[in-house]
Amino acid sequence: MTTEELRQADKEQVLALFDVSQVINSIHDPEELFSRVMDIAVSATRAERGFLMIRDRQGALRAMAARNLDQRDIENPEEVSGTVIQQVLDSGEPVLTSDARTDPRFTGSESVRLYNIRSILCAPLVKGGQALGLIFVDSRTAANVFSDKDKIFLAAFANIAAIAIENARLQSTLREENLTLKQEVRQQYRFENLVGQSPPFRKALAMVEKVLDSEVPVLVQGESGTGKELVAKAIHYNGPRRDKKFVAQYCGALPETLLESELFGYKKGAFTGAMSSKPGLFETAEGGTFFLDEIGDIAPSIQAKLLRVLQDGEMRRIGETSPIRVNVRVISATNRDLLTEVRAGRFREDLFYRLNVVTINLPPLRERRQDIPLLVEHFLESFPPARSRGVRQVDREALEKLMAYGWPGNIRELENALSYGVVMSKGGAIGAKDLPQEVSSREGELQRGFATGRSMRDVEREYLLATLKACGNDRKRTAQQLGISLRTLQYKLKEYKARS
Ligand SMILES: Nc1ncnc2c1ncn2[C@@H]1O[C@H](COP(=O)(O)OP(=O)(O)O)[C@@H](O)[C@H]1O
Ligand SMILES: [Mg+2]
Repeated sequence: MTTEELRQADKEQVLALFDVSQVINSIHDPEELFSRVMDIAVSATRAERGFLMIRDRQGALRAMAARNLDQRDIENPEEVSGTVIQQVLDSGEPVLTSDARTDPRFTGSESVRLYNIRSILCAPLVKGGQALGLIFVDSRTAANVFSDKDKIFLAAFANIAAIAIENARLQSTLREENLTLKQEVRQQYRFENLVGQSPPFRKALAMVEKVLDSEVPVLVQGESGTGKELVAKAIHYNGPRRDKKFVAQYCGALPETLLESELFGYKKGAFTGAMSSKPGLFETAEGGTFFLDEIGDIAPSIQAKLLRVLQDGEMRRIGETSPIRVNVRVISATNRDLLTEVRAGRFREDLFYRLNVVTINLPPLRERRQDIPLLVEHFLESFPPARSRGVRQVDREALEKLMAYGWPGNIRELENALSYGVVMSKGGAIGAKDLPQEVSSREGELQRGFATGRSMRDVEREYLLATLKACGNDRKRTAQQLGISLRTLQYKLKEYKARS
């Protein structure tokens, strides 16, 4: 609207515009907003009827709100509205007709003749040069014939409404996306995705369940690749803080000053290069969970600051004098024995006890070999490439290698070995030759004590019983994994029994 036009506009309507811009920008639900916009448009122009149309994702116009009109009236192509709508969309300009009966643009229009419509006003909802939709009002009484002032009002109003509508729609899309993402993440860290039935792993899981609803700091101990981070996420995404952030920071082998500014942030000018203030991760994680990975490596000065967070719930940005309160659940992880670090004087004892209210020990994979078949099944089910290539299992010889190997990299290494196997295999099952060399080589077998010099029969028997145990005594699955029929398996078991 130009200033000239504004000067001509009805004073009351200009005031209405001002009010409106405030009201509609505070409504975030699209449906409610459409309805509100419609009400204002009808009352400010003293119209008799009206409707609001918005383009859907496919670009088709849909009536989203209407006053004193029903869907049929709006969508009937014979309606005069159809002609006006087209004109508004084509030109991107508002259209006013004071008397549709005599307006040459609408001669022959069915509804003008039938209903004696006198006055029509229609304005596009334009945002960034694009028509999102339009607002249409009409009046059939001689008492209210729309004026140029009404047209200017509706055009200006439509501009404001378009921005509010676009914002509300964007917000609701973001809200939906955010919700699906959250659900996806939660799905990913469900308890069922913590795979394992072995006693040491079950013990760890029982601890995880116990600490879910409490706020106590948890220390997760285990070798690299045993699932420390996965457990930390499971605690977060199954507990009361699940809707807040999970923030992880790797603390091992990082320069002290870098780690410190990551964790606690800094004030502008705190050191050369601090061009602006930056919040630390403790602030980012507010209300949520902070996972401190490889905590055993952190320097004494940071240990002191960490102690303060855990003890008083307070921290200070570097260079800042006043403290900030933080509410964060701390889960830490280490692949070393922290107590040894304490005894050696490298880790503060008071911090150790603060972090370590509850310890969860994750066993190395070599101490839970019976979980290997379950993990193999889990990974092959969840790898997209395994699915697309139809690789659902490992063959007998490959399983033998997997069960025998030492797994210094634990579950992460198993996961990698399997994705390698999927790529190398020709579909169907992964064979021993498809596995990484260190897994398929003979040293693996020797690690488990497959000494040579025994009879085939003894080796077979030992292997069969080990697989049966690994499959939790499930004969069907054992037979499947060994690549023999259930009958053969049963026969062999009977035979062993008879001989022993
Ligand atoms: N019990 C488990 N069930 C399924 N996958 C697991 C399990 N433990 C670990 N993993 C997977 O193994 C990999 C390594 O786990 P991670 O938590 O990063 O180990 P860490 O932090 O101890 O090094 C991840 O891909 C993780 O999803
Ligand atoms: Mg890790």
